[in-house]
Amino acid sequence: SESVEQMIDRLCAKIPDHPEPGVLFRDLTPLFADGPGFHRTVDALADAFSGQYDCVAGVEARGFMIAAAVAYASGAGIIPVRKAGKLPRETISQSYNLEYGTGTLEIHTDDAPRGSRVLVLDDVLATGGTLGAAASLLTRGGYNVAGFGVIMELTALRGRAQLGGHRVRALLRV
Ligand code: PRP
Ligand code: MG
Repeated sequence: SESVEQMIDRLCAKIPDHPEPGVLFRDLTPLFADGPGFHRTVDALADAFSGQYDCVAGVEARGFMIAAAVAYASGAGIIPVRKAGKLPRETISQSYNLEYGTGTLEIHTDDAPRGSRVLVLDDVLATGGTLGAAASLLTRGGYNVAGFGVIMELTALRGRAQLGGHRVRALLRV
């Protein structure tokens, strides 16, 4: 029978030479669109950290889809880590490097109780800039990072090195 890794690889579209020549872009939208595939993916991430978190954090935008589902499946709450300028109350901000330029992520200072154990989720770990910024925000906000969960890790980009020794569960490593 098919492993979770094999299933994710099967439902990941590969686009040669996108967004530029020589790059094989991997797109997870067919996995999100596949009911049984999405269900199994969500359960695999929730199971990997079972009992170890009070809340999940999802990174806008693609991370919201997986984080909301893991939160619901495990009965946990969800903290949105948003692109700058979207949250209405007091926030803390963290800039991070993108492939071209920089971005800024924000969280509210008081969405969940201080000391909550937070599982940080996103669709893909590439350079680690995004998840590294999310984790530093959550730490500055008084939360305890319980670990990182992603559907796919692009290992050549060495993003794990940005994640400070916390546990990382990547369902597919390519
Ligand atoms: C993509 C992806 C991850 C991030 C991974 O998000 O969804 O969040 O890049 O890259 P990194 O490890 O090098 O930071 P993107 O910034 O393209 O935005 P989106 O989720 O809003 O589509
Ligand atoms: Mg993203």
